[in-house]
Amino acid sequence: MLKTYILAGAAAFALFAAGVPAGTPAGAQPRAPYTTGPHNITLPADWQQRFIRYATVDKPDRRIIRHLYVNPEAFAAARAGTPLPYGSLIVMADSRARLDAGGAPLLDQQGRLIAEPGWIAIAAQEKQPGWGEGYGPEIRNGEWEYAAFTGTGERRNVSLNGCFTCHINARAQQDFAFNFWDYVQTR
Ligand code: HEC
Repeated sequence: MLKTYILAGAAAFALFAAGVPAGTPAGAQPRAPYTTGPHNITLPADWQQRFIRYATVDKPDRRIIRHLYVNPEAFAAARAGTPLPYGSLIVMADSRARLDAGGAPLLDQQGRLIAEPGWIAIAAQEKQPGWGEGYGPEIRNGEWEYAAFTGTGERRNVSLNGCFTCHINARAQQDFAFNFWDYVQTR
């Protein structure tokens, strides 16, 4: 019995060893296999300089302003009527609206809310080939993953089920995106 286990273990190890791609250069770390979750999304250090802000949404009821950014590669590659390109990373950064002494939002000359400096929360969604594999059909958003960060970019360990559920229910036909999809259709 014991011998069988040892043999099985040896066979499993041989399979594991054979699974390392032949072309992997000596000393290079083989890429970890994809597993579902927000850890797949990293906010690039220079996203605020490099990404394109394609929309700003006032939310007077919540006294916030949402700033919507996308990486320039996806901005350039996205086409109306087709799914958004692989590599799309959409970042939604919220800022607080400036309020008057009575707590009502101040408006600028265009009638828009006025943002306080800095972010209070950041949400992101990213699409890469093969992502989403492992989520059940009731929650899987194609090849998108979601992530939540604090205003200063630290990862928040919150449940992301709501992100998947709301986006799939409202936007399954628009590649699970809201304003970026809409923007691409009409620009
Ligand atoms: C109740 C529905 C709902 C939930 C829950 C939700 N979203 Fe959204 N999301 C929206 C709507 C609506 C928009 C469009 C912006 C707006 O009007 O606020 C949006 C926009 C976005 C965008 C900008 C992309 C685009 O194309 O518009 C990102 C990124 C995003 N959400 C990520 C998340 C993440 C991450 C979570 C979970 C932490 C989440 N969302 C939870 C409804 C939702």
